[in-house]
Amino acid sequence: MSKTLLVTGGAGFIGSNYCRYVLQHHPDYRIVVLDALTYAGNLSTIADIQSSPETASRLRFYPGKIQDETVVNGIIEAERVDYIVNFAAESHNDRSILEPGSFIQTDVYGVFVLLDAVRKRGVARMLQVSTDEVYGTINEGQFTEQSPLEPNTPYSASKTGGEMQVRAQHITYGTPALVTRCGNNYGPYQYPEKLIPFFVTRLMDNRKVPLYGEGNQVRDWIYVMDHCSGIDHVLHHGVLGEAYNIGSQGERTNIEVTELLLNCLGKPASLIKRIPDPRGGAHDRRYSVNADKLTTLGWQPKHTFEEMLEETVRWYVDHQDWWREIVRKPDYQDFVHRFYGKSLGEDL
Ligand code: NAD
Ligand code: DAU
Repeated sequence: MSKTLLVTGGAGFIGSNYCRYVLQHHPDYRIVVLDALTYAGNLSTIADIQSSPETASRLRFYPGKIQDETVVNGIIEAERVDYIVNFAAESHNDRSILEPGSFIQTDVYGVFVLLDAVRKRGVARMLQVSTDEVYGTINEGQFTEQSPLEPNTPYSASKTGGEMQVRAQHITYGTPALVTRCGNNYGPYQYPEKLIPFFVTRLMDNRKVPLYGEGNQVRDWIYVMDHCSGIDHVLHHGVLGEAYNIGSQGERTNIEVTELLLNCLGKPASLIKRIPDPRGGAHDRRYSVNADKLTTLGWQPKHTFEEMLEETVRWYVDHQDWWREIVRKPDYQDFVHRFYGKSLGEDL
């Protein structure tokens, strides 16, 4: 049946890939994107689906913030929105250590504004895209949906705050909302501040890559399209008020990932520069996601890490126009200098 989907944060990494997923898998759906186009959001990230004759008429873009209730309510009314999937967020841990304030505005207050609009305007369902980082760190075993929420960085605390708004609004008012919690994504169109695209784009130019500490931290990697199919499954089949983990058994240490990237690009290990850990005690040691609750609901990931990592590296090699335009921008240069200047020194 035909539906109109509001995808907030749809000009970012995962949101744009989710738009592609929906356009392909739900031929009768329309998508409305609301995105503030912060440093992480770029129209070039959705240019392909905005301009393609097959999809352009099913996609409409609105610039604006999710904290702006006039904008949010106006779009829901004008476009007769059925579902909301919220990707809009400040999403980078390192930036949250430098400047936490905007994380609270978007990741907590923005979620409240969306939920309030869902309740008052009769939107059928809202899915809040959250993260495994709300659980904090785990030395052994896996996070289940029952694990305690123990966030350790300003970013993960703000995401936990957003989730708590979902929980409270569902319990208090019956607001029809649910939550997903996923591990580290990789794939096309990821902003080149996150480990994989940051390292790939630097290695391509034979520049050193800053590995935090010994690189022993473990992240649970998932290909972005598996995350998108999981979100879509929860949106359509999940029980309102519930949270669902999304994961595909992709645990790797940071040094393992770095070595795979060097290997894919044919670059020497001398390009690794171990730097003092800028996250200090806030650097979560290990994430590991148990997704049994979602697989019981009928979802399965389709991709394996080594295969899709290679394809992802190839994507960055083939789409240099996209990332070179971003890394030339003053806000990107400014962040890299401020965050890595001291530790990378002349290798910056
Ligand atoms: P991203 O930083 O690439 O994209 C975020 C998008 O949100 C950008 O387009 C940005 O312009 C937009 N945005 C930011 N503030 C906004 C605001 N106030 N109003 C409207 N739009 C705003 O992030 P991402 O990596 O695509 O992550 C998307 C979501 O998924 C986030 O909520 C993040 O917490 C969550 N998540 C990410 C990962 C990951 O590995 N990247 C894993 C699990 C969950
Ligand atoms: O787990 C899900 C989370 O994954 C999402 O909620 C976040 O939005 C997303 O950014 C990601 O968080 P991380 O902090 O794990 O991702 P990041 O790519 O920044 O770092 C991955 C690991 O690599 C982490 O242990 C820190 C390390 N790292 C990162 C960078 C950018 C380095 O060693 N050097 C670097 O330069």
